[in-house]
Amino acid sequence: MFYTPGTHKDHGLPHNPFKAIVSPRPIGWISTISADGKPNLAPYSFFNAVSETPPMVAFSSSPGANGEKDSLINARDTAEFVVNIVSKEQMQAMSDTSAALAHGESEFDFAGLSAEPASLVKAPMVAGAPCQLECKLWDIITLPESPDGQKNHLVIGQVVGIHIDDAIITDGKVDVLKFNPVARLGYMDYTAVEDVFPLARPQ
Ligand SMILES: Cc1cc2nc3c(=O)[nH]c(=O)nc-3n(C[C@H](O)[C@H](O)[C@H](O)COP(=O)(O)O)c2cc1C
Repeated sequence: MFYTPGTHKDHGLPHNPFKAIVSPRPIGWISTISADGKPNLAPYSFFNAVSETPPMVAFSSSPGANGEKDSLINARDTAEFVVNIVSKEQMQAMSDTSAALAHGESEFDFAGLSAEPASLVKAPMVAGAPCQLECKLWDIITLPESPDGQKNHLVIGQVVGIHIDDAIITDGKVDVLKFNPVARLGYMDYTAVEDVFPLARPQ
């Protein structure tokens, strides 16, 4: 099968398969604070680490029903955000925080999560997350418009502080099997890392 974007339905695919093809995608559970001090939290699976030195991450925000999403607005206004890593244990809470709440209404409260202060940025962190990356905004890139004229934005941050729960370290390495990070597949499906194997590179 070959098709061009937007024509999947003509090929017997009722749902857009794009996200199932690029999968699994890690989830950046993005916490921010608004310019007037209100905490915000939402999951973004158009998310990844994009360089190691310096460590950089990026997430992409599509337009919401009421225009730009709060994570984008807050990251732009305050030039800071935190990436919280989603463990299997917090997966339901992560999903709950994708609810479209009014601007300024806290997803932390809505999902029954506690916020804890970060060390270097004002944005709060998700208590109980196995790792958190404190980020300073580096740039926001406007991506090409969708056919209906809506704009997606790529928010790029430089990681300035890293928290790791000591309980997930085994022999000096972060042990993903101790927290089973959750990733997004296509449609409404997820996976969690529950299997690890090494693969040597050519010398
Ligand atoms: C697992 C998951 C991944 C998501 N990934 C994205 C994404 O990459 N980009 C996006 O714009 N929305 C994404 N969403 C939807 C947002 O989380 C949702 O629109 C949320 O209400 C945005 O909140 P905010 O306005 O507080 O930023 C995702 C939702 C879920 C459950």
